[in-house]
Amino acid sequence: MSESDSDASIEPPTVAISPDTGDTEIVSTSPPSALMDSLKREVDLFDKLYGEQRGFTETHGKEISRAERKREGYISTTLTYGEIRFDTFAELMDVLKTRHGAMKEDGGVFVDIGCGIGKPVFGAALLHKFDKIVGIEILEDLYKVCVETMQHWTREVKPVLGEERTQDMQFSFLNNDFLIADWSDADIVFMNSTCFNNSLMIDLSAKGKALAPGTIVVTTTRRMVGPAFDLVEELQMEESWGDATVYIQKRVER
Ligand SMILES: C[S@@+](CC[C@H](N)C(=O)[O-])C[C@H]1O[C@@H](n2cnc3c(N)ncnc32)[C@H](O)[C@@H]1O
Repeated sequence: MSESDSDASIEPPTVAISPDTGDTEIVSTSPPSALMDSLKREVDLFDKLYGEQRGFTETHGKEISRAERKREGYISTTLTYGEIRFDTFAELMDVLKTRHGAMKEDGGVFVDIGCGIGKPVFGAALLHKFDKIVGIEILEDLYKVCVETMQHWTREVKPVLGEERTQDMQFSFLNNDFLIADWSDADIVFMNSTCFNNSLMIDLSAKGKALAPGTIVVTTTRRMVGPAFDLVEELQMEESWGDATVYIQKRVER
């Protein structure tokens, strides 16, 4: 997903042709890892939320986003859709845990800034017992999918994970502009920001100053701006459209 295009939706195997543009894109599959071997149950549950059982294809979110933008005449490229893959997102969360001191104990607040159909929100909930998990999404039809997915979480996931693991987790979906919503209580902020522009990153960085020192802010392709955020690691993550650079930053007191 480049900034100029296009919700190109590509799936393994390694070379795919975009149905939208006819362009060929190279994508690679991640090798199976010990981490993913240990997360078979979570992979299965994520699939229950977003897989064929619900009639979802890999392009479900992208199609809903496109239809709403077309219907409403929204032309901003900052609304371009693309999404995480559960496997590489799980690896990212593991990096936060093992290398950056996150999620050492149960609890904490996870916020997805521009949550789409909610994949990082429910992905995070499967990977850690957060106290609160928040998704903020401006497009109403994407937000509605998040709310519907909550019902599937309650019906299909909660009984498998059990009461003790799930009863105190509070989910909150906001159909709002993330520059207006309050996310200052986050411990981990996730922003799949590849298609956000410079001015949006400046505004998000200004708003992010309300976060407590130590808060982790993960962005893709674009970094937080200004001295209030230290870059602590940079890595690559495969997403629905291919590889993205991921920046792990920490809010610092400056
Ligand atoms: C690249 S998608 C990421 C979806 C999801 N976070 C994921 O990674 O699977 C970015 C999302 O941000 C949303 N978005 C863009 N600008 C927004 C704004 N000002 N307020 C709330 N959501 C916004 C878009 O509609 C889109 O769904």
